[in-house]
Amino acid sequence: MLKVDVIIGMQHGDEGKGKVTHYLLSKGPYTHCVRYNGGCNAGHTIYHKGEKFVTHHIPAGVFFGVKSIIGPGCVVDIHKFFDEIKMLREGGIDIADKIFIAKNAHVIQSRHLQADYGETKLGTTRTGNGPCYSEKYARTGSRAEGYRILEPYLVDMYEEFFIRHPNAEVLCEGAQGAELDIDWGDYPYVTSSHCTSAGACLNGFPPQSIRSVIGVAKAYETYVGTKDFQPDQQGFNALQVAGEEFGATTGRKRQCNWMSLPNLEKVVKLNGVTNLVINKMDVLEEVGAWSVYVDHRRANLFTFQNKDQFCEYVKEYFPSVDVIFSGSPERI
Ligand code: IMP
Ligand code: MG
Repeated sequence: MLKVDVIIGMQHGDEGKGKVTHYLLSKGPYTHCVRYNGGCNAGHTIYHKGEKFVTHHIPAGVFFGVKSIIGPGCVVDIHKFFDEIKMLREGGIDIADKIFIAKNAHVIQSRHLQADYGETKLGTTRTGNGPCYSEKYARTGSRAEGYRILEPYLVDMYEEFFIRHPNAEVLCEGAQGAELDIDWGDYPYVTSSHCTSAGACLNGFPPQSIRSVIGVAKAYETYVGTKDFQPDQQGFNALQVAGEEFGATTGRKRQCNWMSLPNLEKVVKLNGVTNLVINKMDVLEEVGAWSVYVDHRRANLFTFQNKDQFCEYVKEYFPSVDVIFSGSPERI
């Protein structure tokens, strides 16, 4: 029987999903790794054998010789896809017969990039994602199967998982985060794809095949885009510097704020999160501040004396979820 574990971002992206994916692949029994949403708007920072890689399209399975598929919920920029293959090869990663694109994934065209480039209202990553998804739903887009250059990489998801490998164990790697989800995020300050665990199902994985949902959060929150997110207080700049909060795709400064527990709880419930990883604890340690919001509107703050009190409170907040605290990708 097909078994699927899903990794989702629980905030606004940049929670450290790449690190968790990389860790699980190094331990796990996975036969496949599938990216299920987004495109090259994502930037996953991965430390493999001490070396830093930033991937945008290609799932982290490739670092372990696991078949890595860009799923049908994704959009692909062909030039960036080949650039990434080159970067991985030059970094000494054996990618032969490991990288695939679902035949029914959509392709970003130059007109999508142009349309996104003029965009200033939302502060998109200007990688053509929104316009490409718009055309997908307007039924004027083009699928990967229409491109000769992609032929060696194409895969039919149904044949792969229901005919050839019905006992596959799949790690589904999400991009962005629940608060950027097209339906559940703070619309219109969202991305154009489904960042939820249901988004993984849309790639051809039936709900019964989902074994666990690993939610990844950061011990504080960050957001890149045009809405005001960072409170006007000193202290957040120190957090931004200590956490090196710059976009992996655009280099933009990320706005910082404390973590909202009720918002995380909503994400736990809407996504059926079974395991929760809270990253970048070392950054709060460095700035010596331990605070969380206890309401949805980020108005009421609880401040703790130390890390132990913080961890205890967070664990008690999520009694039915397995909570793990972790550090920055490069520091663990
Ligand atoms: P788009 O996905 O490029 O259309 O951008 C829409 C919004 O999502 C903007 O606020 C982006 O900054 C944000 N966004 C998209 N991808 C990521 C990501 O991987 N990390 C963080 N923010 C992202
Ligand atoms: Mg990122």
